[in-house]
Amino acid sequence: MNIVTTEEKQAKLDEIAAAVIGRELSLEIAKSCLNPVPGEGNPDAEIVFIGEAPGKQEDEKGEPFVGASGKFLEEMLQSINLRRDDVFITNIVKFRPPNNRDPNEEEIKACLPYLLAQIKIIQPRLIVFLGRHSMNVFFPELKISEAHGKVFRRQGKVFLPLYHPAAALYNGGMRKVLLEDFSQIPAILQTLAK
Ligand code: URA
Repeated sequence: MNIVTTEEKQAKLDEIAAAVIGRELSLEIAKSCLNPVPGEGNPDAEIVFIGEAPGKQEDEKGEPFVGASGKFLEEMLQSINLRRDDVFITNIVKFRPPNNRDPNEEEIKACLPYLLAQIKIIQPRLIVFLGRHSMNVFFPELKISEAHGKVFRRQGKVFLPLYHPAAALYNGGMRKVLLEDFSQIPAILQTLAK
């Protein structure tokens, strides 16, 4: 049996973070950003949350989801009795695109190996997409308006697409939908083997 300790997982995650922070990719956004944002959280997390790319505040701090969207994400985590430290939070793209433009194909493709390595180390029971951009990297065929709140399985992994928390900031209806979708997470985890 292959038993990997928390410390070993953390060390491997630290290696990935160091590569991201070292701006090893020859992408323009890796040079232009203030701080790369590798992602952070519990190496033994049962849930990995995947957003799109860092925004202004994330770029300033080098941490994912620390702006307004992050506040709402923390509120949703609290609503199911979880804290940031319990989960792992990351993005598809690890560097802020200028003026918050959407990341392009080249940027997504170049950063994807970091994300896949993070998932391989953590081995979460559930992968939650925050928004259509991260969902479409794994499931290009899905539409977020139809897929949100539904469980998808592929290659032995379990995925839950959600609307992006930013979509709920100024839209009460969307906020309600997100909170409802989020509230299913404990029951989904219960259905998954440990
Ligand atoms: N939006 C994202 O998709 N990721 C962040 O880290 C912050 C905002």
